[in-house]
Amino acid sequence: MKKLVIAAVLATVSLSASAADTIRFAMEASYPPFEFVDSSNKIQGFDVDLANAMCKEMQATCTFTNQAFDSLIPSLKFRRFDAVISGMDITPERLKQVAFTNPYYDNSAIFIAHSGQFTDVAALKGKRVGMQNGTTHQKYLMDKHPEITAVPYDSYQNAVLDLKNGRLDAVFGDTAVVNEWLKQNKNLAAVGDKVTDPTYFGTGLGVAVRQNNTELLTKLNDALAKVKADGTYKTLYSKWFQQ
Ligand code: ARG
Repeated sequence: MKKLVIAAVLATVSLSASAADTIRFAMEASYPPFEFVDSSNKIQGFDVDLANAMCKEMQATCTFTNQAFDSLIPSLKFRRFDAVISGMDITPERLKQVAFTNPYYDNSAIFIAHSGQFTDVAALKGKRVGMQNGTTHQKYLMDKHPEITAVPYDSYQNAVLDLKNGRLDAVFGDTAVVNEWLKQNKNLAAVGDKVTDPTYFGTGLGVAVRQNNTELLTKLNDALAKVKADGTYKTLYSKWFQQ
């Protein structure tokens, strides 16, 4: 009897694993144009469209859940989700915890402040610079700029709001996203050059999966290659990044 029950449980487990028709994605969705919650409470953005395109290739259904950025990797490891797509840099440090697909977007980081206020990053000494908790920007600031007061936020949106309100002197973020903020806030401008240090900002953005989930990793990489080859990627890129 006991054996039968175990066999039945095993059968269910392997059935659902091989069917694998739902892939649960998690992200922190206050990060347009990568991910954001629209007026009808739906998560939208480049990452969502890309994940849906990959899921179509894999004949799988995607679900998307919005949660705090610094909880994404722990939740993935605890199996609450199958994958993270969240404008996340593929870094050596994260690779110790999770696996990443091939990169789907080039990345770099940059400081912004009120136009004309700071000539270069050295001028930010002793100033308050905001960034999101758990990001590569936070780690870089802590390690490389101890002379700067790093102020962590739950979301970049709140950091930019505080910059506009004068509660912060600068914000440090991803160039692709910063470009959107600069378009919307004409009195903000970049400070210094783009930062590309691969130890901190990695080798592009990737989709994270659990280290032992090689089946999903292979499927995602195959699907990514297909959406790149058939023009879907290009269409989505121009939809979200070129105006
Ligand atoms: N690219 C940065 C990182 O990987 C920030 C990503 C923030 N993403 C987000 N959806 N809030 O740490």
